[in-house]
Amino acid sequence: MPRPDDLCPQPLPLPPLATTPHAPPIWPTSVWQCESPQQADDMLAGRLPGYVYQRDGHPNAYLLAEKCRLLHEADHAAVTATGMGALAVAMLSQLQSGDHALLGSRLYGKSHQLFGVEAARLGIEMSTVETTDLAATAAAIRPNTKLLLAETIANPLLEVADIAALAEIAHHGGAVLLVDNTFASPILCRPLALGADLVMESLTKTMNGHSDVILGLLAGTAAVWPRVPQVISAFGLASSPFDCWLADRGLSTAPLRIERACDNGLAAAEFLQSQSATVAHVHYPGLATHAQHELAARQFGGRFGTIVTFTLAGGRPAADQFIVAAKNIPFCPSLGELSTTLSHPETTSHRGYTPEQRAALGITGGTIRLSVGTESAEFVRDALAEGLAALKN
Ligand SMILES: Cc1ncc(COP(=O)(O)O)c(C=O)c1O
Repeated sequence: MPRPDDLCPQPLPLPPLATTPHAPPIWPTSVWQCESPQQADDMLAGRLPGYVYQRDGHPNAYLLAEKCRLLHEADHAAVTATGMGALAVAMLSQLQSGDHALLGSRLYGKSHQLFGVEAARLGIEMSTVETTDLAATAAAIRPNTKLLLAETIANPLLEVADIAALAEIAHHGGAVLLVDNTFASPILCRPLALGADLVMESLTKTMNGHSDVILGLLAGTAAVWPRVPQVISAFGLASSPFDCWLADRGLSTAPLRIERACDNGLAAAEFLQSQSATVAHVHYPGLATHAQHELAARQFGGRFGTIVTFTLAGGRPAADQFIVAAKNIPFCPSLGELSTTLSHPETTSHRGYTPEQRAALGITGGTIRLSVGTESAEFVRDALAEGLAALKN
């Protein structure tokens, strides 16, 4: 009879399984038992497939990254602890001191800070350009520009990037095109197929879709990949097995969820556009009034995304009132959830910009970002109408 002190710490081997689990298991192990130092060395060097230490890779990250790699038709894909982690990996693997990064002027606030503040501290120059203006973008490329970053559908005013044209501009200038595809997801757009070199997504959003995970994706071509695994491991940006498992499960319904939410998004945008007494402007690539509507139709194959942004005529006081009155739409400063949610860019996603920068981008106190969920279109319309009704009193 073994002593409990000796038995309890030992993990027992599983008898061989005759059947395969249909749902993937979770492998929480931080470390793997290796047969020999040579085997560990070969695996850590990438000469042998397999796992040694969770920070360098684990099966749940592999399963999630592989599904994303196939969706994006990428040579390589990796999952990171957050969406910002994926952007940081792109930055750290592609740039070094003395290089210049050219950023779309309308990026998620934290992405702007990553390059404008953190990269600057490492000696990386940054400037911004309106990437919807292709001539201005080409003119803004410098001899030391190594990276051009744009969002497929920009956060929060939903300008649409012409990815094929931006790839041409970047490559002509000797730079890599990195696309933040968070708002589109591979269901609407596959930037690598349009010529981009790297694509990142916050898997936290629509790809997982269930408000219970923070994760990021970086996928790309073989040419830009060599430093990526080392950067993820050395900077400790790896993901957790449980989060990857949850996101893999979320991803299994992504096409259904996203298609439904896109249909609801168009219906919500059309409804908001009809509310001219309280709504001054509606931004949605599916509306004929959107500046890049034709590009969006061509690039996204007939759907236009799950985010609708609108500006209330009454400015910040109206936004405060609307957010309280639209009580069936939770005010959650994120997006891409199953349920419809609201956000207020001035005080949340874009608070990192100065008031002058926000004003130049067109983000005002009355700007509301609506993330449309999978409820019925009628539910979303009624919930919006309830919020707008309060502004008429
Ligand atoms: C467009 C965009 N990119 C990147 C991120 C960062 O992702 P995460 O929150 O997973 O770090 C966000 C988060 O809101 C985002 O909206």
